[in-house]
Amino acid sequence: MKKIVVIPGDGIGKEVMEAAMLILEKLDLPFEYSYYEAGDEALEKYGKALPDETLEACKKSDAVLFGAAGETAADVIVRLRRELETFANVRPAKAIEGIECLYPGLDIVVVRENTECLYLGFEFEFGDVTEAVRVITRKASERIARYAFELAKREGRKKVTALHKANVMKRTCGLFRDVCREVAKEYGDIEFNDYYIDAACMYLVMDPFRFDVIVTTNMFGDIVSDLAAGLVGGLGLAPSANVGEKSAIFEPVHGAAFDIAGKGIANPTAMILTACMMLRHFGYVEEAKKVEAAVEKAIKGGKKTPDLGGYLKTLEFANEVARLLD
Ligand code: NAI
Ligand code: MG
Repeated sequence: MKKIVVIPGDGIGKEVMEAAMLILEKLDLPFEYSYYEAGDEALEKYGKALPDETLEACKKSDAVLFGAAGETAADVIVRLRRELETFANVRPAKAIEGIECLYPGLDIVVVRENTECLYLGFEFEFGDVTEAVRVITRKASERIARYAFELAKREGRKKVTALHKANVMKRTCGLFRDVCREVAKEYGDIEFNDYYIDAACMYLVMDPFRFDVIVTTNMFGDIVSDLAAGLVGGLGLAPSANVGEKSAIFEPVHGAAFDIAGKGIANPTAMILTACMMLRHFGYVEEAKKVEAAVEKAIKGGKKTPDLGGYLKTLEFANEVARLLD
């Protein structure tokens, strides 16, 4: 039995989680799901966005399936990633057939360092002067660079590109770039290059096919993965996995989307594909492929949520995917 902690969270997190669980429950795998609270509502109720009970359960779990948090995201998901030492945030941006998007056929993966950089929350205030501390270490840079190359090897990908701003942040980004270049030498059969993050954003928009695996620091990775999601149809489709040595957290790239929350129109595809990443993580590759194929078939058949130009509600789409699984 794998122990899975399920945290629906806030806003559409709850809605897309209900949809994804409908699919997971149908697969009848040796998973034991237990539900826990975290997020804005938990803060309101218990005075803590990440209640101790939730954190303890996550630490004891085999995996965490997370929906989204709202304004407390930093105290919940950013903290969870760090507490569980899930150092690699893997965010594929793969165009699904049947979806109108900027770049049909695109298939790239953003590998984001998950434990340091500006997201450590080392922020200080001296009256009207505020400052933040950016931490980049050799150890974390090496670990994430190696993870990116190993992922490329495992998935038969040809190229790894490191993104940084070493011309301005000479020490922090300089170290990250140098370590990536060093690790690249160990992987002779995988092409490597690096770009400044600003230029890379333009290349991503104008010519994304020059990328395959992207490896970058925490905040750049956060930004670039939303950008990459936009190239292939938007946040409604973008899954992600946070992987460490012992723990794993699976969550869609999107947040609580308060602008559409409560209407039942969120696209659950990102959350369902996130669940598929969890299935693969535990070796249920065939099951993951089945679900992914059902999602694709539903979309190809014109069954879409409003973000993709359709009219289906969250649960209607999930039910269609469930029906196609039979
Ligand atoms: P967001 O990712 O929630 O939404 C951005 C835009 O994409 C919105 O227009 C939203 O309607 C749309 N969108 C996102 N997911 C969608 C889906 N599944 N189907 C259809 N449309 C979708 O980011 P935003 O609006 O900046 O933040 C909203 C709240 O979420 C904030 O409180 C923020 O702090 C939090 N947040 C939490 C994250 C997390 O828990 N991992 C990540 C990002 C934001
Ligand atoms: Mg983000």
